[in-house]
Amino acid sequence: MVNVLFVCLGNICRSPMAEAVLRSKIAQRGLQESIKVDSAGTGDWHIGHVPHEGTRRILDQKGISYADMTARLVSSNDFDSFQYIVCMDDSNVVNVRKLPGGEKAELLTFMELLPDEELREVPDPYFTGNFEQVFALIDAGCDVLLDRIAEERL
Ligand code: 4NP
Repeated sequence: MVNVLFVCLGNICRSPMAEAVLRSKIAQRGLQESIKVDSAGTGDWHIGHVPHEGTRRILDQKGISYADMTARLVSSNDFDSFQYIVCMDDSNVVNVRKLPGGEKAELLTFMELLPDEELREVPDPYFTGNFEQVFALIDAGCDVLLDRIAEERL
C-alpha cells in the first residue's frame, strides 16, 4: 500500500481539496487497493472541521466527494505512515520540519509536480478567495503525482 499525505496550513482549503481530487483519480484508475490518501494541517484552528465552503462548492461542481473528511493536525507519526508527504507551500515545509524527526522527513512541495508553472507555491484561497485557480493546479498536479507513484511504486 502506498500512502499519500497532503499538508497545508488549516487543512480546510487546499489539502482536503487535493485529498478529494486524488482519491477520485485513484478510483477512476481502479487503484483503491493500492494507494490511500489523507490530509492534515500545521495549524490547529480548524481541527474537526469539514472543508471550507469554497472547497466544498468547487468539489460539488466537479462531482467529487469529500464525505467524512475533517481537519486534523500533522504529526511526527505521519512520517512513519506516509511515503509521500506533499506540502502546499514553503511555510508548510518549514513547520513540518519543526516537528520531532521532521528534519529528516522526506517532503515534496506540490508545485514540484508542475515545473512549467511559474508559481512555486499553491496560493492559499483562504486569503485569495480563488478556489478555481487552486482547483486547476491541484487537478493537474494530482495527475502528475499519480503517474509518478505508478512509476515508482506500483
Ligand atoms: P488552507 O487555508 O491552509 O489551504 O486550509 C487556510 C485555512 C485557514 C486558515 C489559514 C489558511 N486560518 O488562518 O484559519
